[in-house]
Amino acid sequence: MSFPNQRPRRLRTTPAMRRMTAEHRLAPAELILPAFIREGLSEPNPIASMPGVVQHTTDSLKRAAAEAAELGLGGIMLFGIPSERDAEGSASLDPNGVLNRAIRDVRSEIGDELVVMSDVCLDEFTDHGHCGVLDGEGYVDNDATLEIYAKMAVAQADAGAHMLGPSGMMDGQIAAIRQALEKAGHTNTAVVAYAAKYASAFYGPFREAVDSQLKGDRRTYQMDAANRREAIREVELDLAEGADVVMVKPAMSYLDILADVAAMSPVPVAAYQISGEYSMIEAAAANGWIDRQAAITESVLGIKRAGANMVLTYWAAELAGWLKESR
Ligand code: PBG
Repeated sequence: MSFPNQRPRRLRTTPAMRRMTAEHRLAPAELILPAFIREGLSEPNPIASMPGVVQHTTDSLKRAAAEAAELGLGGIMLFGIPSERDAEGSASLDPNGVLNRAIRDVRSEIGDELVVMSDVCLDEFTDHGHCGVLDGEGYVDNDATLEIYAKMAVAQADAGAHMLGPSGMMDGQIAAIRQALEKAGHTNTAVVAYAAKYASAFYGPFREAVDSQLKGDRRTYQMDAANRREAIREVELDLAEGADVVMVKPAMSYLDILADVAAMSPVPVAAYQISGEYSMIEAAAANGWIDRQAAITESVLGIKRAGANMVLTYWAAELAGWLKESR
């Protein structure tokens, strides 16, 4: 029998020992809460496939933002659901449209206490549900879409967004948005690039959350799950175009991508733990198959360990509450 003196278990003996030697820990400031606001609602509307998440009214959104600020979250990412849609998504440009108004309302509620972020994408606003406008063949027209994104970005910056999140995966979207912001004098409005965003089955519940009209898929613009190297190319392009933060999305099925990006990125890296990741854990927990709090905490810690500096998660507020309790 041998008696090893190498005993990794020494550092696992007590909670204090484990806490002191932990390589990563979670903090509210790195968590970002995605939030939906729907035009014309009188009561918050539960999203069936995302138990615990709602489509907000103006009032409930303001309360959620105030609570997020109170908890010390890093930011809030706003998505708007308009009551009228058309082929060009024109409601996205209306200064009084649902998203632009929500940005204003949230800014007036919390000022600079949270980073107020907003989705620059057409899928919530188009009647066909694609992230851009379509050409004669039904193909998403990259460059025509860029012109609209540029205007959307300026409208959202005018409304007071601190950081814009273009999520449509058009080529050149960061450059188009950056140029439009500079030209409009919004030199301090930051951009978080959804740099490596994959066409994912795990977006399913989000489509309910925003009442998406999409038929078909987004495979001609979002990345293919088979590809790893290509993520680096996407990140390099977005960096060259002026991205302030780069994001990987989804998170849990793409932790290798996140680790690759974290290893090469000179700017902060975000990861989006998306709707389907949320729903899977909630569903398993509701069935009593996993310990909900432990599973949520582990899932976000895994994303952090893979290299994320910031995590967008629908559990941001609840998780921050737990972090406060556990000192
Ligand atoms: C597009 C967008 C999507 C999500 C965020 N922005 C949907 C899509 O690309 O189909 C998904 C977020 C989630 O699933 O939680 N505006």
